[in-house]
Amino acid sequence: MEKSKKENHLVFSGVQPTGNLHLGNYLGAIKNWVNLQKTNKCIFCIVDLHAITTSENRQEIKKNTREVAAAYIAAGIDPNKNIIFAQSNVSGHSELSWILSCHTPIGWLNRMTQFKDKAGKNKEKAPLGLYSYPVLMAADILLYKSTHVPVGEDQKQHLELCRDIAQAFNRNYNHNFFPIPEPVITGKATRVMSLKDGSKKMSKSDPSEQSRINMTDDSEMIRKKIQKAKTDSLPFPNEILELDNRPEILNLINIFAALSNLSSEKIISDYKIKDFSAFKKDLSNLVGEEISKISVEMKKLLEDESYLDTIIKKGSERADEISEKNLKELKNIIGFFGA
Ligand code: AMP
Ligand code: TRP
Repeated sequence: MEKSKKENHLVFSGVQPTGNLHLGNYLGAIKNWVNLQKTNKCIFCIVDLHAITTSENRQEIKKNTREVAAAYIAAGIDPNKNIIFAQSNVSGHSELSWILSCHTPIGWLNRMTQFKDKAGKNKEKAPLGLYSYPVLMAADILLYKSTHVPVGEDQKQHLELCRDIAQAFNRNYNHNFFPIPEPVITGKATRVMSLKDGSKKMSKSDPSEQSRINMTDDSEMIRKKIQKAKTDSLPFPNEILELDNRPEILNLINIFAALSNLSSEKIISDYKIKDFSAFKKDLSNLVGEEISKISVEMKKLLEDESYLDTIIKKGSERADEISEKNLKELKNIIGFFGA
């Protein structure tokens, strides 16, 4: 992408303050943000309004909000160059969410697989907020007229919906108000799987600590988890085609590739003549080096609550300014009294 183009870019993304930040959050999202900040204006949100959509996530939001801010900074996001803020501190998110919900057909929401997964069998008892979660996510992005949204693969459907909602609004008011945001799903590990089950996503809510590498794990913990990570009884693969039916191995190779910048082909050719234990040892070192650096820095940052609080507060003020300006313009287009 040329430099001149990037001046019109606005990158927006977010993570829920729901604890247990893990390698999937890092490789699928945060690591890519660290690169994007070099050439783009960026806003990184801590999406606490999203975190209250499920009952198990409603505890310790404040503590988890600081933890996400610490993870962003420890991973290398510069809080002075970029905006880091808490969603609930900018009322525009909820306001725009309502406006957008009036332009979102229920049929579109009925297709959202994340709602189906999270609501489970008892849809009638699921909260309305869990159902309208993707509309709030669209509001997060569109409130700032964002153009690029770097996320993991699991958010693709929500981003497609966001684009549809932006187009619907623009069409209904015959105005090109919202840019149509581009999903940025990049890197070699856009969907990191559980270390215990290659068919399940690595997730914050998995009851097994062994299933994920946390961003707060030290190198010894990481080594143990990778050593115990599920593999199969077959030898190390000889070629990439073999990975189709070996999801656990594919996952470990993807993680290796994302952290080493080597292609899967090169990794396979290097290790097929060795064995799994050599591969796991080197993988532990790679993950350990990158994540333990972050975890040490996170711990330091978390000891200084007032520093983190100032970052979040200042970021929220900067975000609020943009939000107010854009909402004013939007209300004017809608034709609300006083706008
Ligand atoms: P969440 O933990 O749901 O707030 O997700 C925050 C970001 O991490 C989003 O961009 C997700 O797409 C990304 N993410 C979450 N889990 C994974 C995973 N297992 N692999 C890759 N990206 C993920
Ligand atoms: N739904 C996203 C997730 O669970 C988090 C999120 C909320 C988000 N609002 C966003 C991501 C806006 C990108 C842009 O991962």
